[in-house]
Amino acid sequence: MPTQNDMQKILITGGLGQVGSYLVDALHEKAKITVLDNYSSTTREAVPPEVNVIKGDVKDRIAADLVNQNDVVIHTAAQISVTASMKDPLFDAQNNVFGTLNLLEAARRFSISKFIYISSAAVYGDPIEVPITESHPQDPLSPYGVSKLSGEKYCMMYHKAFGLPSCCIRPFNIYSPRQDPGNPYSGVISRFIEKARAGQSPVIFGDGTQTRDFISVHDIVDIITLLLEKEDANGHVFNAGTGNSITVSELANMVLDIFDVDVPVQYMPERPGDIKYSCSDISKARKTLGFEPKVSLREGLMEFAE
Ligand code: UD1
Repeated sequence: MPTQNDMQKILITGGLGQVGSYLVDALHEKAKITVLDNYSSTTREAVPPEVNVIKGDVKDRIAADLVNQNDVVIHTAAQISVTASMKDPLFDAQNNVFGTLNLLEAARRFSISKFIYISSAAVYGDPIEVPITESHPQDPLSPYGVSKLSGEKYCMMYHKAFGLPSCCIRPFNIYSPRQDPGNPYSGVISRFIEKARAGQSPVIFGDGTQTRDFISVHDIVDIITLLLEKEDANGHVFNAGTGNSITVSELANMVLDIFDVDVPVQYMPERPGDIKYSCSDISKARKTLGFEPKVSLREGLMEFAE
């Protein structure tokens, strides 16, 4: 095992969050990790006690100071809710645009060997064709989609103009047992599982024929680890999905089956702004990074039951 002194130093912003905390789990024995987190959605206990955690915001001076002390930046901190961004676009942009730019500016001044940015499939808006490749038109439907696209564009521009070794992923629908089911902005999987645990009916918005590409957080950690290793990734944006999709009705039935709950599904009107079909094309990540998603949806859902 490498000693503390020759370990790579990695700053993970949002390291107490859903993606960040799993990344810390995967990397903290191989690298010297510093977490920067504003504690907006979780607590210190999300990561092991020996990990260095700094309470602070990506928009603040502290973020730039921490970039200076590290070799690599993995920027997962963000305002993550589409609905919240519709209510307060300024707050969304302050975090996702200004916060990202604050880190990039620091990364440009100090010699950073890799800057990884977590964007979103929300940049595509309502797809005109599926599966969605990275070159699909980017036409976001929410301030969140715009702010994520803006962060991405800054990363790519810093690569082109300043030679910053930056790269981005566009995750599709990420799930994990660490997503808070009590949060109204949590994803459909957390919501369905919370209902199933209580022996209640899952609520489907619309007719249930809408599709999504659900990717386990473990596969997201895998693709980020590949980005860390591959220099070829610099200057590129990659879809992070499984390349498979499932309807929301099929998902509801799978959850009820795994939790062995026999209740009817409940239907509510379609959510405004929802996209109908979503499925990633991950050929680019397969070819450039050797990425292969490993967790099937059923296996990923079983992890909630354990
Ligand atoms: C998700 C992400 C969003 C990302 C986008 C990228 C989450 C929480 N949101 O949005 O950050 O930008 O993908 O494309 O992961 N549904 C139900 N019942 C429920 C909850 C949801 O039927 O109780 C339906 C929704 O109407 C929707 C589908 O399930 O059709 C997925 O919803 P959700 O998990 O909220 O994610 P997205 O809207 O796809």
